[in-house]
Amino acid sequence: MPTPAPVLVLLGGAGDLAMRMLLPSLYHLELDNLLPPALRIIAVGRAPGDADSYRAEVKADLEARDMFDAAGWARISARLDYCATDAGRPEGARVLADRIGDHGDLVFFYALSPSLFAPVTQALQAAGLTGERTRLVLEKPIGRDLESSRAINAAIAAAVPESRVFRIDHYLGKETVQNLIALRFANTLFEPLWTSRSIDHVQITVAETHGVGDRWPYYDDYGAIRDMLQNHMLQLLCLVAMEPPSDLEPDAVRNEKVKVLRSLRPFTRASAASDSVRGQYGDGVVEGQAVKSYESEVGRPSATETFVALTAWIDNWRWAGVPFFLRTGKRMAERNTQIVIQFKPVPHSIFGGAAVDDLVANRLVIELQPDEDIALTIMNKRPGLTQEAMRLQPLPLSLSLARALGGEGGRRRIAYERLLLDALRGDQTLFVRNDEVEAAWRFVDGVADAWAAAGMAPRPYPAGSWGPGGAFALIERSGRSWNE
Ligand code: BG6
Repeated sequence: MPTPAPVLVLLGGAGDLAMRMLLPSLYHLELDNLLPPALRIIAVGRAPGDADSYRAEVKADLEARDMFDAAGWARISARLDYCATDAGRPEGARVLADRIGDHGDLVFFYALSPSLFAPVTQALQAAGLTGERTRLVLEKPIGRDLESSRAINAAIAAAVPESRVFRIDHYLGKETVQNLIALRFANTLFEPLWTSRSIDHVQITVAETHGVGDRWPYYDDYGAIRDMLQNHMLQLLCLVAMEPPSDLEPDAVRNEKVKVLRSLRPFTRASAASDSVRGQYGDGVVEGQAVKSYESEVGRPSATETFVALTAWIDNWRWAGVPFFLRTGKRMAERNTQIVIQFKPVPHSIFGGAAVDDLVANRLVIELQPDEDIALTIMNKRPGLTQEAMRLQPLPLSLSLARALGGEGGRRRIAYERLLLDALRGDQTLFVRNDEVEAAWRFVDGVADAWAAAGMAPRPYPAGSWGPGGAFALIERSGRSWNE
């Protein structure tokens, strides 16, 4: 008897995430012949429709992108089916079970609101769809706080063991984020310096130029700390700060990340004002275009932050006394995601005269977006035969990944391509474990509670700026400054 084919089910298959990210990712994997040959893909949505109308919609969307390939489309469209049903209800899940029929590995991708995670899982279980070959891939956010994330994790655990649950943080699928692991653990150069002995502070910036637009009904309930800090920012912080794992096995890496999260110093009412800044964008100009305020997008007054900057402290041996300055915001001056490792100055300068002022400490800048670049500033002698004392200047030792890899780096991939492939293969290394999610929520809940206790409302900032002035004061108070 032939082995039944693996099936990937996209719950929320007609939604924004599926259309914008998942289908283009699957299509690219198809073009590169990376999908399991017999894989069937079933998109599930509540909207009426059939496979033909769904395929036409996906095709139109892909054609609007730059790399449409008729042969590739023919291959993926042959795999693609659409099932109009409500998978959150037992009878709806039974309809889906009939459509799935015999299956090999069965992967459900929840591109759904987190409020549906528990009912959908229960309905899938009741329909007999959570057997040993089933994996669940859950899109962030897992809940809105610690309590709701625990309820979701418990509902999932009642149906499927943790070894078959794949929680997505798409930042972990980004090539440069994985490169951070290579940079730290495949080079002898950095790791001996990667401690409070040599590092003065760390900055993590995720600046976006777009606003919240149509997503405001979701965003207004979450804000920047729940939408970005709880997941992407803290994951980046974990990869910078974690101890070397023994290998790249999923739990080896995740054990180290969770230790970092548990070492984060909780915010208090007293530290809220000195260690954090909340902001919300007003009208302004971004990339030459006049744009409206957050409240105009929402259509009413709102107390949700679209910007957060904070100082995080990791209370462990490696990082004692090293501030991690984190900031993220929408409608910022430019799109930029970067991690800055600021080393300490030399302990004693042998250079006199003007060179004393020239001397700046080494800085490692890992840029993730818009370009992928790693640059280490090192001090050099300024060339010349001057009679005066030696003059110095910092110059970047720069590794532009696009330039260095040339064609070999290939097309820049959508982060979901890697993650979909790993979920289909069953590799959990780049997925977030239940205890990690809960530890991250514990920290973020602490920030939200501290803000509430201190009565901290978001400060306005003009769209197209770098956030409220307080974000500069936050870092400058300690004699440091953001890397611009
Ligand atoms: C998502 C957030 O998880 O990440 C969005 O919900 C944000 O608000 C997006 O814009 C940023 O992702 P990227 O890959 O564009 O940096």
